[in-house]
Amino acid sequence: MTRRLIVLFALLGFASAAQFSVPLRKSGSLRQKMIKEGRYSEYLLQRKTMQLSTGKQGLFDTMDEFYLAYIFLGTPDQPFRVSVDTASSVLWVLDVNCDSFNCNEPVQNVPLKDTYNSSASSTFKDSDKNFLFPYPYQGTTKVYGLLGKEKVSMARFTLTNQDFIRATVVPDFYTEQPVDGVFGLGWPDQQELKGVGTPMQTLLPQLDQPIFTIWMQRADNATKESSGSITYGGFDGEACDKNIQYLPLAQPGVWGFFVEGWSMGSFKGTQNETAISASSSGWTGVPTAAFSHILKATKAKFDWELNAYTVSCSTIERQPDLNLNIGGNIYTIKSLDYVLDLGLNNGQCALAFFSSAKMNADWILGESFIRGYCHVYDFGNSRVGLSKFVKRD
Ligand SMILES: *[C@@H]1O[C@H](CO)[C@@H](O)[C@H](O)[C@H]1NC(C)=O
Ligand SMILES: *[C@@H]1O[C@H](CO)[C@@H](O)[C@H](O)[C@H]1NC(C)=O
Ligand SMILES: *[C@@H]1O[C@H](CO)[C@@H](O)[C@H](O)[C@H]1NC(C)=O
Repeated sequence: MTRRLIVLFALLGFASAAQFSVPLRKSGSLRQKMIKEGRYSEYLLQRKTMQLSTGKQGLFDTMDEFYLAYIFLGTPDQPFRVSVDTASSVLWVLDVNCDSFNCNEPVQNVPLKDTYNSSASSTFKDSDKNFLFPYPYQGTTKVYGLLGKEKVSMARFTLTNQDFIRATVVPDFYTEQPVDGVFGLGWPDQQELKGVGTPMQTLLPQLDQPIFTIWMQRADNATKESSGSITYGGFDGEACDKNIQYLPLAQPGVWGFFVEGWSMGSFKGTQNETAISASSSGWTGVPTAAFSHILKATKAKFDWELNAYTVSCSTIERQPDLNLNIGGNIYTIKSLDYVLDLGLNNGQCALAFFSSAKMNADWILGESFIRGYCHVYDFGNSRVGLSKFVKRD
């Protein structure tokens, strides 16, 4: 049961990625969009009067499945561990009045969750709006919450009057993980809740450049501090190689690109398919045909109790790489990054792939892929850049 919840929670990334019905209209670059909407001069003015900067936010990971960051809401600060998610766009945290089992039930070895208490903050502004998040989690589960505005502190930045959701009903994938909410890094267009301001909209005018860089690394099966970082407003030249391959977005307003082919062992595919970059997804979503080939190439077996495919942990280093053809170059997801030791204690390790059938993209490239390459998310030029690591902390 417990392990199953971990696995199910790992699917959160794809659940959130899946539920945006992305309008396939051309939105162009953010600058074009602002010019069209008559907001560009206001944006430039805003930038001029602000001290522009970059800021770094450390990430810590739990079992290589979740990369979390600390943010603070309210006055005085209330701390939260949030999943940083490039595949969704709004900010939501658990509310102190959340009465779901998962909000406040003590679980062995898992720190109690932090919840947001609006009565304890002098900067909280209420709204009458309620929201039901259409998370298609197992088809039916949804997150229910209330909209408010609050002061948010993260990295070196302060987001004043930031729209956020206080979740009062949440599905059960949170139980086993110290996650108090989700910090969306996506585009306003990618948004699951229309009319709700996103953190990146508030942050962009404060940034040196309209970009952020993410890198992550494996922490094996132990929780480890500083397992990655996000640099807002700049390229992380310390951790990442300056030789960056930039890729146009495969879908406007969605962080992603095209995967033009793949191979694993003796299997391969040559279709040109869409990929979403989903930093909160511990597992990698692959097209159905590729999935069945990956199962053959890795000799994975379905584990009914875990509700997932597993391989013997002793094979981790011998399993074949998954090679992806992206922008004419080969990018690799190594077995060390796609076989997860979830501490099952039966010698079995989880194969962190799922079939992306019926998702919004053919490939959902999450943490297994981000652990291999630095990612630069560029709002200004509507593109994602990939580069090698030069050094990780
Ligand atoms: C929320 O904060 C108020 C004001 O500090 C406090 O009186 C109340 O007990 C808090 N609620 C909970 C459930 O902790
Ligand atoms: C993972 O945990 C297991 C059991 O707790 C331990 O035996 C193993 O050495 C750990 N693996 C790594 C890579 O730390
Ligand atoms: C994949 O499709 C995109 C969009 O149609 C196109 O720009 C790109 O050149 C294609 N790649 C290949 C290898 O055909």
